[in-house]
Amino acid sequence: MNQWYCSVCHDILKGENKPGSCDTCQADDRMMIKLSDIPKTLEQVRDMARTKLKGICAAYPSCDGNFDKICQREAYGKPIGLGGAGQGRSFRANTEALAKIEFNMSVLGDHFEPDTSSSFLGIDLRFPVLSSSTAGAQNYNDALDETQFCTSILKGSKEAGTIGLRGDTWFYTLENHPSLNAMKACTGFGIPIFKPRSQDVLKQLIEKAEEYGCKAVGVDLDGCGSTIMARQGMPVFRKNVRDIEELVRFSSLPFIAKGIMMPEEAQKCVDAGVSVIAVSNHGGRVLDSTPGVATVLPLIRKKLGKSVTITADGGVRTGYDVLKMLALGADAVLLGRDIIRAAVGAGTLGVKLHLEHVHQTLIKAMFMTGTKNIKMADSRILFNQD
Ligand SMILES: Cc1cc2nc3c(=O)[nH]c(=O)nc-3n(C[C@H](O)[C@H](O)[C@H](O)COP(=O)(O)O)c2cc1C
Repeated sequence: MNQWYCSVCHDILKGENKPGSCDTCQADDRMMIKLSDIPKTLEQVRDMARTKLKGICAAYPSCDGNFDKICQREAYGKPIGLGGAGQGRSFRANTEALAKIEFNMSVLGDHFEPDTSSSFLGIDLRFPVLSSSTAGAQNYNDALDETQFCTSILKGSKEAGTIGLRGDTWFYTLENHPSLNAMKACTGFGIPIFKPRSQDVLKQLIEKAEEYGCKAVGVDLDGCGSTIMARQGMPVFRKNVRDIEELVRFSSLPFIAKGIMMPEEAQKCVDAGVSVIAVSNHGGRVLDSTPGVATVLPLIRKKLGKSVTITADGGVRTGYDVLKMLALGADAVLLGRDIIRAAVGAGTLGVKLHLEHVHQTLIKAMFMTGTKNIKMADSRILFNQD
C-alpha cells in the first residue's frame, strides 16, 4: 500500500493509486505527492515547479526578465505568463536596481545572533518578508486549482512565521473568489488585495474580507493597467483620492495602497488615510520602462518620513535583497514570482521551504553587515548611500 502526502494540509493518505482528493482539505490529486518523493530542499521544489510550468517558466536561479529566460524570450505576442510587460524593461529594472546596491561588510564588534523579528500592522512576524498578492496560477498548464494555490500560500506563509497577501483576477467573482475562499479556510490569516474594480464591487469584497476576519485589505491601484479584466467583462478603473478616502472610511480594516511609484502619490494616499504604502511596479507587468523599485523606494521614504508603513516588492530573490530593501526604507518586503513557483512546485510545503530559505539568507546578510535587528537596517549598512 502506498502512502500519499497532501501538500496543502500535510495529511497522509493511504492507497495503491494516487487519491483523487484529500479527505481533510479536499485538495485534488495534483497536490498529492508520494511519501517517498516529498521534497526536502528548495532545489527539489524548484525541480517540481520546472516540470509543471514547462514552457512558461524554468524556475531559473536568477529570475530577472532577461531575454535568455523563457518568459521574455518566447512570450512576444503571447499572453504575459510570468514575464513582464512589453520588452520587460521594468521587470529587469527591478533586479538591476537591487544589483547596483552594495553592502558595507562589517566584521568588527561583539559577536551576536541577528534578531529578524518584526511587526506588521500589529502582527508579530518571525521576519519581515510577506508573500505578495498574485493570482492566475490556475492558468499555467492547469498545474493546480486556484483556491488551493491561494490556500497553500496563506498556510505556507503562516507556517514560516509570516503572513500572505492574495491577489485578484478576471475569473475571481463575488460569488467565487479564490482569494477570499482561502482566507475563509485559513480563518482570515491573510490580506486580500483587490483589483481596482468599481467602488460598489470593492465595498462588497471588503465586507466579505471583514466577515472572514482578514487582517487588512488593499487595492493594487496599478491594476488599472490590466487589460484582461476589461476584456473579460470585469472593468478596472483609475482611482482618485476621493475614491481611496471612501474605501478607507468604508473599511474597518487597515487599508493598503499597492502599486505606488511616485513620492507625491504616496503622500496623497497617506493623506487619504491609507495605512500602508506598497511601493511596487507590479513586478514590471503593467507598464514597461519604469525605474526599479529599489531606485524609487528611498525617495518615497524620504517624502513620507519614518512613521508611515511601507512595503517594497520587485526582483527580491534572497535575504540579501530583502536587507537591501529594508535599508532603503521598507518596513516589510513582498515576494511575488518566487512564491508562485514554490506553491506550484509543492503547495504549502514549497512556500514554507522557500520562505525559510529567504529567512536564512537574511540572517546571514544581517550578520555580515553588523545588523543586530531589523530596526538597525538603514542606509549606514549600504556602500555609498546616504
Ligand atoms: C503572475 C503574477 C500575477 C500577479 N498578480 C497580482 C495580483 O493579482 N495582484 C497584485 O496586487 N499583484 C499581482 N502581481 C504582482 C506581485 O504582487 C508583485 O508586485 C510582483 O510579482 C513582485 O515582483 P517579483 O515577482 O519580481 O517578486 C502579480 C505578479 C505575477 C508575476
